[in-house]
Amino acid sequence: MSRRTVLITGASAGIGAAMARVYAAEGWDLILTARREAALDALADETRRIGANVTVLTADLAEPGAPEALVAQITARGLTVDGLVNNAGFSLTTGFLATKPEQHAGSIRVMLTAPVELSRLLLPGMVGRRFGRILNVASIAGLMPATGGDTLYGPIKSFLIKASQGLRLEMQGTGVHVTALCPGYTFTEFHDINGSRADVTSAYPAWMWMTAEAVARAGYDAVEANRPRVIPGWRNRLLSIIPKLLPNGVALSIIAGHARRLKRL
Ligand SMILES: NC(=O)c1ccc[n+]([C@@H]2O[C@H](COP(=O)([O-])OP(=O)(O)OC[C@H]3O[C@@H](n4cnc5c(N)ncnc54)[C@H](OP(=O)(O)O)[C@@H]3O)[C@@H](O)[C@H]2O)c1
Repeated sequence: MSRRTVLITGASAGIGAAMARVYAAEGWDLILTARREAALDALADETRRIGANVTVLTADLAEPGAPEALVAQITARGLTVDGLVNNAGFSLTTGFLATKPEQHAGSIRVMLTAPVELSRLLLPGMVGRRFGRILNVASIAGLMPATGGDTLYGPIKSFLIKASQGLRLEMQGTGVHVTALCPGYTFTEFHDINGSRADVTSAYPAWMWMTAEAVARAGYDAVEANRPRVIPGWRNRLLSIIPKLLPNGVALSIIAGHARRLKRL
């Protein structure tokens, strides 16, 4: 069988970089994208050493039209995409009104519009070849009541989880698997970038966190098994169930306490 190629967004750090290592170890070739070229080049060198053919394409997915331009570059290089990991993401913890409208729009483009557009552009080829994998990196936040301070983040991730479910149903019998990956707290650059590292570290002990490697492996295994959704770690699975068992008012006040602990309210 010829080698498969996966396009991974947000591959310059964290879960995306860990995904690249997992896919390379499983014998896939890689197309790595993010904004930071040096980090992508370093990861490309590393994964080439374990046998992967790697292409680096920088893109800012907050820019309108970026997914289309990215796919055009891939096509121009004669590459075929068999797997897509929609992973790029970040949270804005500054509060709804203190966040500029273009920052809101950018976060929606990176985490919601880009996954939809990349899926729409790449799925016809996958269906035509009767093989495809789409792994959408959502979050446990998409399964919980919405919190304040980063008000749009949870709803964006809920969208991704539900869109994955619907798409998975539409893809049945085509050879294309679609899975939503819902990590809990994961050691990456995420909380450095949103400025909450000190608060989350003091509010949530190390045992509540997982490594990016464990999260990436859980995602890879789940999409290969064509599971609709995966929540890595039993503690996160338990956390995702508790709000559903409580009356809505109680669940909302627990989540408000979480936002206050992180100084977001
Ligand atoms: N860490 C957690 O606790 C956690 C929990 C649940 C879900 N998640 C989700 O996991 C995914 C990966 O996050 P992570 O934890 O690995 O965070 P990370 O270490 O900060 O990595 C985020 C990645 O997204 C890329 N990215 C950000 N903005 C971008 C843009 N405008 N255009 C293109 N790429 C962009 C970054 O690359 P450049 O900066 O080089 O562009 C980087 O590669 C996200 O979708 C996040 O919501 C994380």
